Amino acid sequence: MTDWWAPSWKVRVNGKSQEVLAADFVYRVVMVEPGGNLSQFRYWPWGWPYLLILSWRTLLMLGVCQVVRVMRGVEPPSSRAHPTQLLSMKGRRVMEDLTKQYSYEKLIQEEKEHYSQIEVTDDLTEGGVHANSSWSYYWQRIATVIGQSEYANLPVYLDRAFGSLETPIRILSLGSGYCGNEIGLAKGLASRHIITCTDINEEIFSDARKRVQQENLSIEFRVEDLNFIKIPKGECDLIFAHAALHHIINLEYLLDQIVDGLSDNGVFHLVEVTGMNRKLIWDENERFANALLSLMPDRITRKLRLDVRAEAEGMEGVRQEEILPLLHKRFRPIFEWRHGAFMRFICTHPDLGRYFDPADNEARRYLDFLIDCDESSVRRGVLKPLELWGVYQPLH
Ligand SMILES: C[S@@+](CC[C@H](N)C(=O)[O-])C[C@H]1O[C@@H](n2cnc3c(N)ncnc32)[C@H](O)[C@@H]1O
Repeated sequence: MTDWWAPSWKVRVNGKSQEVLAADFVYRVVMVEPGGNLSQFRYWPWGWPYLLILSWRTLLMLGVCQVVRVMRGVEPPSSRAHPTQLLSMKGRRVMEDLTKQYSYEKLIQEEKEHYSQIEVTDDLTEGGVHANSSWSYYWQRIATVIGQSEYANLPVYLDRAFGSLETPIRILSLGSGYCGNEIGLAKGLASRHIITCTDINEEIFSDARKRVQQENLSIEFRVEDLNFIKIPKGECDLIFAHAALHHIINLEYLLDQIVDGLSDNGVFHLVEVTGMNRKLIWDENERFANALLSLMPDRITRKLRLDVRAEAEGMEGVRQEEILPLLHKRFRPIFEWRHGAFMRFICTHPDLGRYFDPADNEARRYLDFLIDCDESSVRRGVLKPLELWGVYQPLH
């Protein structure tokens, strides 16, 4: 018979069992007498039919177990092992987990190591070049604009907007780092409040924990990965992110979580950098800044120029160009100030940042001139700004 041979084939010829032989290693052969014969083939593998019954029962039991897990709200083990392949949003939309496109564990490790080592001020904010007096001076000038908004003094705004509620003011800070800003906020608030600080790096909280205990502040700490955080629905009067979003890969997911997490009148306060991915300063801004530096006396600049390299790896600025468009799809700005085309790079330069010392009259004149040029270039649309200071409410 031109059909496959296998050891489990049985045959009866004219009612009698016979061996099924293999021909050419492939076909089934059976010996018959000349004339009319009736050959009945049957395939009867080992364990038949008990294995069939067993396999169906196993499948049935697995199905029942899965239904019970779902009813109890237990996630399937695969989704616990890797936080999520697909991130569910608002119960209906799903989004791809973009961290899967990176060596994510390695990135997180580097991020923790980096921020565990940075210099910190006595107020637990970022120190080192970020504490340069020229950079503080720049922010004092920016404060004259931001200060016109009612949000600039956050404690006063929060006390006025939410202080009369029966519940404490609920504040969630994302990527809080050493928590200096949050401690300052807690100290400034007159109304009852609870501030939750989050960061991926547990170690970074240790000084803040001590300070909170010593000064009896209403701050709690949670280790959270913002790429997967689940913010409870409608529970926050203020969510604020200070220099954290430019480290985030699942940006759409996080922004949707923020939308959902805000209470009815809740606001999202964002202080962020939104320039070129991985490099931050746009090439034309860098050239413009260097042209200005080249016009200044060497005794001020010591012939130094900017030479900014893009970060080849890491999470620094990973999707920062997309922050603004994604933000504006979901939020309406109540107040938004975009500024700083290049001043960050001059003021936080390890040498230039010190040379433009505002305590020195001549250096301050040049520093003021640079800030004037920076402001004017942004205001007139000549250069794109890198810095964002805004307060937002969800569009819906
Ligand atoms: C530039 S620092 C800002 C810290 C603080 N908000 C401030 O302004 O001083 C960025 C912070 O984001 C945290 N971070 C980075 N990726 C994160 C993630 N996926 N989830 C939570 N925190 C993250 C870092 O550990 C770091 O503390």
